[in-house]
Amino acid sequence: MDEIEKVHKNAVIEIDKVGNLSKLEELKIKYLGRSGTINKLLQNIKTVSNERKKEYGQKLNQLKLQLTELIEKHQLRLINQSEKSQTIDITMPGNEMLKGSLHPVTIAIQEISAVFSKIGFIRMSYPEAEWDYLAFDALNMPKTHPARDDFETTFLSGKPHERFGKMILTPHTSSGQIREMWRLKKPPIRMINIAKCYRPNWDATHTPMFHQFEGMCVDKNINITHLKGALDYFSQSYFGPETKTRLRPHHFQFTEPSFEVDVTCTACDGKGIVGAGRDPSTQKCKICKSGWLELGGTGMVHPNVLKEGNIDPDEFSGWAFGFGIERVIMMKYGIDDIRNYYSGDIRFLKQF
Ligand code: FA5
Repeated sequence: MDEIEKVHKNAVIEIDKVGNLSKLEELKIKYLGRSGTINKLLQNIKTVSNERKKEYGQKLNQLKLQLTELIEKHQLRLINQSEKSQTIDITMPGNEMLKGSLHPVTIAIQEISAVFSKIGFIRMSYPEAEWDYLAFDALNMPKTHPARDDFETTFLSGKPHERFGKMILTPHTSSGQIREMWRLKKPPIRMINIAKCYRPNWDATHTPMFHQFEGMCVDKNINITHLKGALDYFSQSYFGPETKTRLRPHHFQFTEPSFEVDVTCTACDGKGIVGAGRDPSTQKCKICKSGWLELGGTGMVHPNVLKEGNIDPDEFSGWAFGFGIERVIMMKYGIDDIRNYYSGDIRFLKQF
């Protein structure tokens, strides 16, 4: 019994002196742990006479409860003290927030939209899943055109539409020409349609999903000089004021005449060589090889296409173009592999 008294007194003094939580935990183990003082005292019960065994057991139990309560109260006191002593230094710099950034394609879409909005073009975005009819037939493309092969175009399953045929993932933004004519019903039309396109290709200059921007202008007396003016304006605004454009004859079913547009290479300023004159470092520009880079297709809207849009080709004329967004960024910054955009590689993406 005396031993129990002694342990009680010492424990109260010891617990009261403890100034931190880890020391208190040590004391808890010392007194209440499996091989702690209380359990050792319990083993001593064998040496106690039978008449006093009950009293001994009760006293020991009481001590256990008292010490448990004491330790818990002291623990709370220490926690409160430590919270109060924590001060906030308002002069400390805050933790830096992790910031995301816009994807280069998103940035280019914003820039291109801004360039065309300055000359009165309205930004549109027509469906990614389109009717076969609008992407091909309405654009004067015969049923046998190779672009309609399922090696070139992704056909979606589902019931074909009576008039518009099967659904496809739109392979170009030119179907937007028809949709815009239908929407506005009559000219003037000044549209810039920016949307995702799909073709099953995958190499350094082709991805199965890419973006195109399609410009279209229809009004009275619109001719190729207006087209050339718009192309020069876009190229100089987007690539730089010294950029020149040229038209090369080409063929598209939906434009007549049709052209491919080239712009002077930004890496060699259209010279086709890098390095100065006879300088031994002079060599062919790796980006363009010839001084020119291909921007995409263009031409005067075919009369049959205007008719599909319920516009009289004898009264109105227009031009259209379709360029790849990923490609214009490649041209602007000299990027040599289009797949970088969709690699998810932060080292590439954070450069923009
Ligand atoms: C067309 O898609 C025509 N609709 C463009 C057009 C519109 C002509 C209006 C006349 C009038 P083309 O297939 O050449 O044309 O594609 C145009 C541009 O899209 C290409 O120059 C290229 O920049 C981009 N492009 C085409 N396929 C891919 C691809 N798989 N990956 C990335 N960019 C592509």
